[in-house]
Amino acid sequence: MKRKVTKAIFPVAGLGTRFLPATKSIPKEIMTLVDRPLIQYAIDEARAAGIKEFIFVTSRGKGALEDYFDNAPVLEQELRKKGKDKLLELLKSTNMESGAIAYIRQHKALGLGHAVWCARRLIANEPFAVILPDDVIAAEKPCLQQMVEAHAETGGCMVAAMEVPPEATSAYGVLDVEEDMGSMVSVRGMVEKPSPEDAPSNLAVIGRYILTPKVLQNLNRIKAGAGGELQLTDAIAEEIRSGRDVYGYRFRGQRFDCGSKAGFLQATVAFGLAREELRDEFAAYLREVVSIPSAAQ
Ligand code: UTP
Repeated sequence: MKRKVTKAIFPVAGLGTRFLPATKSIPKEIMTLVDRPLIQYAIDEARAAGIKEFIFVTSRGKGALEDYFDNAPVLEQELRKKGKDKLLELLKSTNMESGAIAYIRQHKALGLGHAVWCARRLIANEPFAVILPDDVIAAEKPCLQQMVEAHAETGGCMVAAMEVPPEATSAYGVLDVEEDMGSMVSVRGMVEKPSPEDAPSNLAVIGRYILTPKVLQNLNRIKAGAGGELQLTDAIAEEIRSGRDVYGYRFRGQRFDCGSKAGFLQATVAFGLAREELRDEFAAYLREVVSIPSAAQ
């Protein structure tokens, strides 16, 4: 019988240099789209997919993340006293059950593969998810939930995939497709950050994965790849070489690259417009600024 996916790893140990100076003192994952930190979107998506245990791979300076998921007794007491029930309810979604959350330190930012490897002792013989919180996905059915449902049929490893412009392949892991089955493709190879002329397709991997524990064993063995970092892509590609199944899943939804400034701004606009209480005023403002192009300069 296939094991359910109940654990997710959140690698959040990166330096976030593209958001300096902000990330000098706040973790990138605490930055907010409207009023919710990136990490909250990731946690909500994981919960919707049935994840029960949340493993954070952190680093120095990420204390704000740990506090975010803790109870805030003084604040809660104040809100209760003032009868602010709605806000109290809102805060509940940030509280984690004791024991449901674990923090592991990655002592050096040696890459995404290394970050996942740091959590190896918390994963038993079971499939697990990896979520990169800086990829935020707006979707009717949350992306990881779509993948967990598909994975229940296929098993093996599964990565979220989307078509990118051919000239953008060097920013992604890219799939070499064996068979295209529509929402899913079977994969015969993966290349990390290929130049457009070397890219086997324009189907790029984005930050959602369901992996087998074999990938952790592969990470034990492989050496640093592109950029001196231990690449998760290489460890997944190793599965294909060993004859095991790897699938790309074309999720339904819109992905925002919140690790980049342009992506973050786009997400802010999209999530702002999606909020009923903000929509009218915000849309009117946007119409105004785009109709007078020099106004914002
Ligand atoms: P990025 O490539 O976006 O790197 O990592 P970064 O350090 O966060 O940001 P920049 O490029 O310096 O601006 C993708 C994901 O992998 C995690 C990051 O925290 C992010 O969620 N990561 C990356 C680690 O946990 N450890 C690493 O060594 C590298």
